Amino acid sequence: MIILGIETSCDETAAAVLEQKTERIQILSNVVASSASLQTKYGGIIPEQAAREQVKSIIPVIEEALTQAFPNYSLQPTHYDLPIDAIAVTYGPGLIGSLLVGVETAKVLAKIWNKPLIPVNHLLGHFWANWINNSISIIDYRTSERQHDKRLTINDMPIFPCLGLLVSGGHTDLVLFTDHDKYQYLGGTRDDAAGECFDKCARLLNLPYPGGPEISKLAQKGDPNKFKLPIPMQNKGLDFSYSGLKTSVSNIVHGLSENKNNIRLTINDKQNLATSIEETIIKSLVNKVVLAIQKYSVEQIIVAGGVAANQKLTKELGTRCKELGVKLHVPPPYLCTDNGAMIAARAFFEKPIDLLKVQANPNLNLG
Ligand code: KG4
Ligand code: ZN
Repeated sequence: MIILGIETSCDETAAAVLEQKTERIQILSNVVASSASLQTKYGGIIPEQAAREQVKSIIPVIEEALTQAFPNYSLQPTHYDLPIDAIAVTYGPGLIGSLLVGVETAKVLAKIWNKPLIPVNHLLGHFWANWINNSISIIDYRTSERQHDKRLTINDMPIFPCLGLLVSGGHTDLVLFTDHDKYQYLGGTRDDAAGECFDKCARLLNLPYPGGPEISKLAQKGDPNKFKLPIPMQNKGLDFSYSGLKTSVSNIVHGLSENKNNIRLTINDKQNLATSIEETIIKSLVNKVVLAIQKYSVEQIIVAGGVAANQKLTKELGTRCKELGVKLHVPPPYLCTDNGAMIAARAFFEKPIDLLKVQANPNLNLG
């Protein structure tokens, strides 16, 4: 079974071809074009601009993914013998303009190639990146940059029941999975997502978008004791909250600046603040994961989403999971941020539906 996965929910245009063979899910190709560097100029995503970039990139990205997977292939509307069994596409949640580009492209391709269409919830897609077995390089088709990963083996596939932590730009959710299609929502953020908090704090520090990797880089050189930030939601519940943390950072930044209209922080202040921001977000996430592990007595945890690319977070989670005897699954960084491979991976466990019934749903959730 071979599936082409298409992902366009936000500012990444992505397509990947995956094969399921004797229980293993392998990547044959995985191509991502990101418009994040364009969004950087404005300090965040402008939905219309993201959608326009999706329109420009979608066909080249799909063509590249198919060409890498099948070197003799050429993108022709009449190419019926294309060796894929189905097309999977993210139908939500996300930005409506961006989602529509992927969904409508997938529908047209499913029609002209006569292939079944499998709509995939982006959030489940993030989690199912943990079911991908093989290692492969990812290629950004604009920069031709490659990343390599040699990690998973067949033994590393998650086993149910498992706790899921999704930490992305739009979501911070805890979910208990008991099977591929059975799950219970345990808690989530009441306001900003963890990734959103990284991005908003980065903006306060005058760092480019996306803020998570920028804060993480600066944090390596900071002193965590210079700025004390409150750890949010230190109760026994499984919900998260990050808007208060952002406000605390904003108050500190304004307090450090003599001229409120022209905020200038020293590099030391930036590094120290970045360290405290990263530590506080990580502590709040790890605290809730430990609570959920104890409450539901799980032995496996799957982590997913862009913030899971944060090495300090995965290291800290790894230490706590080891102490608790829990197996931690985290995809390699290039499968944590948005990609087409995770959408195809999830699609192996979903059924196709009539393509006329597939509709973009920006507000889809796990709740
Ligand atoms: O999953 P994702 O690519 O897109 C969404 O579905 O939202 O996540 C993007 C988020 C951004 O907020 C970005 O700042 C954050 O993931 N992120 C990180 C790191 N890499 C990406 N946050 C912390 N540390 C990182 N290394
Ligand atoms: Zn995502």
